[in-house]
Amino acid sequence: MGDAATPHHSAEPAPFPRGFRWGAATAAFQIEGSTSADGRGESIWDVFTRTPGLVLDGANAELAADSYRRYRDDVALLAGLGADDYRFSIAWPRVQPGGTGPANEAGLDAYERLVDALLAAGIAPVPTLYHWDLPQQLEDAGGWLNRDTASRFADYAALVVDRLGDRVGRWITLNEPAMTTLQGYALGTQAPGRALMLGALPTAHHQLLAHGLAVAAIRARGAGEVGITNNHTLVVPATDAPEDRLAAGAFDLVVNRIFAGPVLAGAYPDLSGFGLDAMPGLEAGDLDVIGAPLDFYGVNFYNPTRVAAASAGSEFAAAGLPFEPVDFEGVPTTGFDWPIVPAAFTELLVSLGEDYGERLPPIVITENGASFPDEVVGGEVHDARRIAYLEEHIAAVRRAIELGADVRGYYLWSLLDNFEWAEGYTQRFGLVHVDFDSGERVPKDSYAWYREFIAGARGLS
Ligand code: NOJ
Repeated sequence: MGDAATPHHSAEPAPFPRGFRWGAATAAFQIEGSTSADGRGESIWDVFTRTPGLVLDGANAELAADSYRRYRDDVALLAGLGADDYRFSIAWPRVQPGGTGPANEAGLDAYERLVDALLAAGIAPVPTLYHWDLPQQLEDAGGWLNRDTASRFADYAALVVDRLGDRVGRWITLNEPAMTTLQGYALGTQAPGRALMLGALPTAHHQLLAHGLAVAAIRARGAGEVGITNNHTLVVPATDAPEDRLAAGAFDLVVNRIFAGPVLAGAYPDLSGFGLDAMPGLEAGDLDVIGAPLDFYGVNFYNPTRVAAASAGSEFAAAGLPFEPVDFEGVPTTGFDWPIVPAAFTELLVSLGEDYGERLPPIVITENGASFPDEVVGGEVHDARRIAYLEEHIAAVRRAIELGADVRGYYLWSLLDNFEWAEGYTQRFGLVHVDFDSGERVPKDSYAWYREFIAGARGLS
């Protein structure tokens, strides 16, 4: 938790450290399309998008940004940026259509083509093994509520690493397990759409166990660096009143600490405030698996969250939750209405070092960016607000480094406009505009800005 209102000033920002890696990020379901190509199985997101009323405008991802077919265009765009790294995700249902058993070789072939194209362009591939597209057959067997899914994930990771491990030097196990637990299983606003509230907690543990088992599988194959991507928000109490501070603490626990603690400190935080004496699903030895040392810690950051005690009669109170997010006052917002507070990014990065100390490996920013309602006018997209957001947030990372945070890379979300989950195609995060009917790509002003920025940052280091 912190006080995002206190910016950290510095007269002359230090350059980025030598070897700092610049990149961009995407995820399979959000960009690939071709959802039935080459033997791909069904994922929970295919089912979720087909269910009326769950995704804005009834959108689906059958075409998305058409990247399964246009991957060479994507690689050319990355090369044009001068990116060091490309963070993309591998769709589990392409590799194991039902989530178990032998590999679907055609699925692995597609990722091998992408990896080889990246390497040929001088870009390092950084695959995420799980970015939310669980094979539906595993969901039918309980999904992340089922401890067995963790072992299935490790088997899947091994298949991917056996194919690509000689060419991939950096792996990310899971993307934002907190969102899967909170949105997917507690609130039901994302796939698989279960609204179990605190009953969703075992999905946190089983995902973290999946992470740990996959780390062991990757280590056993000597296949390079490995880390996890967690989303982090800086939690700011709405007021100094004790009830708001308590509520903010509970929110911080649920969104940040349950997912960071076992990975970075080998322990869950105290859950007694939720009436629990231990994490549901925890078995002897699990924390050793989950807490195995990592080569890097992936942080996704978009905005801080201001939290108050749940007001009587609110949907939060009705759901038995002690907290309620409230708006920041007088703060500009993105197209998603997310508050823009760059100083919160600095504070968050510094606080990770304070909270986890020597157990914290080097940090890689695995996502940061902003959505705005961009339009193509005369073949151009003038997205000045995105450029301002990026400039300020990258400067915030640099300030954190000056203050001692060990940050080694920055991956911008996102290379392309894409399928923004339950918001369908209404939130554009890309450096490149995508026409979702034709797949046509138009680099935005922010694309040219990031290219210049990377070239300049390299000059400094
Ligand atoms: C985090 C998720 O990993 C990504 O899939 C999503 O599009 C962005 N946040 C923006 O909401």
